[in-house]
Amino acid sequence: MKVLVTGGAGYIGSICTEELLNAGYDVAVFDNLTEGHLLAVDKRAKFIKGDLADREFIHKTIADIKPDAIMHFAANALVGESMTNPSKYFRNNVCSAINLIDAAVAANCLKFIFSSTCATYGTPERIPMDERLPQKPINPYGQSKLMFEQILRWYDQIHGLVHVNLRYFNAAGASEKFGEDHRIETHLIPNVLKVALGQKENVQIFGEQYATPDGTCIRDYIHIKDLAAAHMLAMGRTTSAAYNLGSGEGYSVRQVIDVARKVTGHEIPVVVKEARAGDPPRLVASSHKVTAELGWKPKHARLQAIMEDAWAWHKKFPNGYGD
Ligand code: UFG
Repeated sequence: MKVLVTGGAGYIGSICTEELLNAGYDVAVFDNLTEGHLLAVDKRAKFIKGDLADREFIHKTIADIKPDAIMHFAANALVGESMTNPSKYFRNNVCSAINLIDAAVAANCLKFIFSSTCATYGTPERIPMDERLPQKPINPYGQSKLMFEQILRWYDQIHGLVHVNLRYFNAAGASEKFGEDHRIETHLIPNVLKVALGQKENVQIFGEQYATPDGTCIRDYIHIKDLAAAHMLAMGRTTSAAYNLGSGEGYSVRQVIDVARKVTGHEIPVVVKEARAGDPPRLVASSHKVTAELGWKPKHARLQAIMEDAWAWHKKFPNGYGD
């Protein structure tokens, strides 16, 4: 079975590609390398450099490759940036992605796994978060992903595009070969580990006045390998669905830093800054539905295990992919 992976040179796409190849799939990676890295593309995959904004090129690529399924990771994914540059999020995450599904439909490739996000829910009315919660995003990033989920629903109804929306919580950790390397790093765990590596002096804590026990934001960190496993299971679906994907446990920013201190042995100094625009105080997943329907369970749910894998990768590749 052949899978086209868009964004396969990025953090989540690279590790899903690796796991697909390990499971015996034939994989083609499509990436424009603005966020991704050539060295993050597993050598066993075919690589196509291209941009989804180029409608003709993605049509030609899909017509040539004739994939049985598409996993769509290529997107901009920074909550903070989306609050200052919404245009980038709507153009890349919605307009370019429409080119992709039009090409898929034209080539009769009707299985589509979509990287969605818990940011589509906004500030949830209850915790843990299940899929019945209303989707009311509070930042353009979450809005762009919700808009594309809604577009997919119509493509299913009209063209029979079977799609699975996987609403990720906070992806973290690494495989032995691939890990998290953003050219401008804004994510908490890699920034904490950069301090432990001596590349940064301190970690900034964005806000400590939230309505949480220690005042800092709570997130649900899911191991990247568990995330990849859910993609494999999602491919078995014959009808469309949506699933939340998290480990089911919330950690505050301060707790994340404490776990990193334990794992790295570094004191990791912090400075408290203003809250970041667009951040909900608490996001924790219920994985009841994905467990019941796909049989998925996280194998590396403890944050310490996730941090250990991230730390091993960062120590091995202190300059990331080096580009
Ligand atoms: N944070 C800090 N200091 C930092 C970086 C982050 O205090 O240096 C805080 C943030 O304010 C937030 C938490 O740590 O409260 C986690 O922030 P990240 O930037 O690591 O992750 P986000 O929760 O903002 O967003 C990530 C992905 C999104 C995804 C979302 C789902 O970037 O694509 O998780 O929760 F949708």
